[in-house]
Amino acid sequence: MTDYPSKSYGRNAEIASIFKMFEIGKDVSMPGPRRLGKTFVLERLVDSASAGGWAAVKIEVAGCRDSQAFFRELCDKIGSRRTNGANFLTWILQRLHQATQPRQDQPGPWYQPFLSHDHQTYFERLIKALNDDSTQRWALLIDELPIFLKALHDKGTDGIAAARDFMNLTSRLRADYQRVRWMITGSIGIEPLARAGNYMGVLAKFSPFALEPLSNAQSRDLVQDLAKEGRLMHRQLINDAEAEAIVQAVGWNAAYYLEALANKLTGAPANDAGAGSAVAAAVENLLQPGEQTTFGTWEEHLRKHYQGAERLLAFSILAALALHPGGLNASGLLTAIGQATVTEAQLRQTLDRLDADGFVSLRRDDEDDPHVSFRNLLLRRWWQRYPPHETL
Ligand SMILES: Nc1ncnc2c1ncn2[C@@H]1O[C@H](COP(=O)(O)OP(=O)(O)OP(=O)(O)O)[C@@H](O)[C@H]1O
Ligand SMILES: [Mg+2]
Repeated sequence: MTDYPSKSYGRNAEIASIFKMFEIGKDVSMPGPRRLGKTFVLERLVDSASAGGWAAVKIEVAGCRDSQAFFRELCDKIGSRRTNGANFLTWILQRLHQATQPRQDQPGPWYQPFLSHDHQTYFERLIKALNDDSTQRWALLIDELPIFLKALHDKGTDGIAAARDFMNLTSRLRADYQRVRWMITGSIGIEPLARAGNYMGVLAKFSPFALEPLSNAQSRDLVQDLAKEGRLMHRQLINDAEAEAIVQAVGWNAAYYLEALANKLTGAPANDAGAGSAVAAAVENLLQPGEQTTFGTWEEHLRKHYQGAERLLAFSILAALALHPGGLNASGLLTAIGQATVTEAQLRQTLDRLDADGFVSLRRDDEDDPHVSFRNLLLRRWWQRYPPHETL
């Protein structure tokens, strides 16, 4: 196990900032593109919570299809906490049983009786119990909330109403039980959902926290440590020049891609002069067809979350940019995609979305004609080599 608190890349400053936000009464929303390291930050929060008198639970809700599943996931996580162990569960159970007496003779996990009753009431009771815990303060870290909300929205009108009810309930629980803090992350935009479902007001209560990619120095430390800690296939050592070349080749400092590339480095550590070509060979290995899982997430993201004409436009934009390592200005891009029906406004809107979702970087030195390029240099080369096809 890596000792992250002692590591430059361990997100320690971020962890301190987020706990500080909790301390001063803020709930946190941390959006960020796929693979940036959001879940890692939540795991670090869970591991470091107790030092400051917090108890943090991370709930992964991407697979939940209704609010009952959400409640079940929360109960599972709280019930399986190692600290406070069985005692805490007994304590919670006593509090959940107050007022009503659900049947005890049902099979299944401890919270089963509550699920078969009005689970929202028990959800509230659970939050109240956490709020009343005087031995520690609770933080609920909800990973991929927008994917859960989108699953509700996809069910149609009733689902959208269920999403709104759910968000309104969390909003009320936040107001009524103020010792409990909430944090949400998401790799798809939550605003379009909130607008469609009319719950923008709930969202506005969360303070944004912008998670940045690792710095170059942190990234070099990370790849060198991966080698030292025996976590790479072919290397126990990556020298400084190679570490720097890896960072340059990835271009977007997400631990996921730094590690993926470091894993492809073979042979003895190169001298300074040979670092570039050693890393170039590693890049070539990473761009082999077998690496679909390393890069496929991005195409899948477009197919899942973009619809109709916007999806077609997104694919066209990326196809054009894949051919231009240095990127293009928006005006040049509009020409390059060669679709007469696409307006400049549509292009700008889709570029903003692709920027938020981490596909491209937009530089607005010239506000009238921003510059756009692939954010992840390896992904550009993947897209160029294996161009995804999309037709309406
Ligand atoms: N700062 C870091 N130090 C070491 N490893 C990291 C760091 N950040 C992320 N990782 C590793 O990189 C991988 C991707 O990170 P993570 O799963 O947190 O990304 P994510 O933003 O949640 O992505 P997704 O949107 O796909 O869920 C994981 O294996 C994680 O352990
Ligand atoms: Mg994640």
